[in-house]
Amino acid sequence: MAVIERHPDVKDFILEMSLPEIRERGGVADLVEQGNIVLIKDFRLDFDFEVLTRLEKSIDAIQAVPIRRKLKKLEATHFFEGEPPAKVGFRSLRFKSAVRQAMFDVICKGDRKLFAQASTALKASHETVLGIFDTAFPEYDPFQLIASLRLTRTLFENLHWDNHSIDDDFHQARVFANLDIRPRIWHLGHRFPDMMRLLYEKHNLARFAGQDPNEMIDFITRDLLGGTDRMWLDQLPRHRIAFEPGEVWLGESRLVAHQIYYGEAALVYMWFVKVNSMSDPGNRFNAQVEEVHREMQTALT
Ligand SMILES: [Fe+2]
Repeated sequence: MAVIERHPDVKDFILEMSLPEIRERGGVADLVEQGNIVLIKDFRLDFDFEVLTRLEKSIDAIQAVPIRRKLKKLEATHFFEGEPPAKVGFRSLRFKSAVRQAMFDVICKGDRKLFAQASTALKASHETVLGIFDTAFPEYDPFQLIASLRLTRTLFENLHWDNHSIDDDFHQARVFANLDIRPRIWHLGHRFPDMMRLLYEKHNLARFAGQDPNEMIDFITRDLLGGTDRMWLDQLPRHRIAFEPGEVWLGESRLVAHQIYYGEAALVYMWFVKVNSMSDPGNRFNAQVEEVHREMQTALT
């Protein structure tokens, strides 16, 4: 199981539940919407970890910027969705999609066997993660999935709440999985509404009321916490977690401050979900932010 070190000054929002327990209570949408991180207990993805270690992690060899950008935000589905490639010679493959071709040529080093092994592994993990989504969020009505595959090392990320640069009032559900043979280490800090309450008066957060919450996320993450430039964040209390190989967890990355302290390979699946299918639509991120504005403004007047 994951090693978890809880900090007494941060609310304990890390829940450990098995899939039968999650199924038994009809999912965990309510808990995740309230800003809990749910770690799936007694479960590991049955994954071919070794195949990922053989993939090329650098995409510097790709000249075309749009293709490089797409490979940087690699989607797991590129390995197994789309028209099957044509075989060329003994070793190579020819794809209709330029992105999939570059993925084969560079990430899979033009090796048909390696591509086939990676495809098999990622298709299996894809199906397992879709199953976990259905178990965890049985009522959700998703309209888009971004099935992101992270293959590059992440180290000492700053503590932050995600800003997706989308100003819609949307809801997301996320499933994460550690695809590496080493632990993936996360730190978790205050939930965004709690952080707002702590900073509200001193930093006049009232000026962000009625605006796109991303403005306030940016102000707190970048201007107050140093963004990606400075590293003062060790002053903030945080929980520490080392997720084991194949472990899977769920959470709303705008609601919970997080910091990937160390990680090699992971799946980050993000579903955009219709708000009216939420356990409580009043718990969508924008609504929680507006609620804190109302609460603080009432308290201050
Ligand atoms: Fe993040």
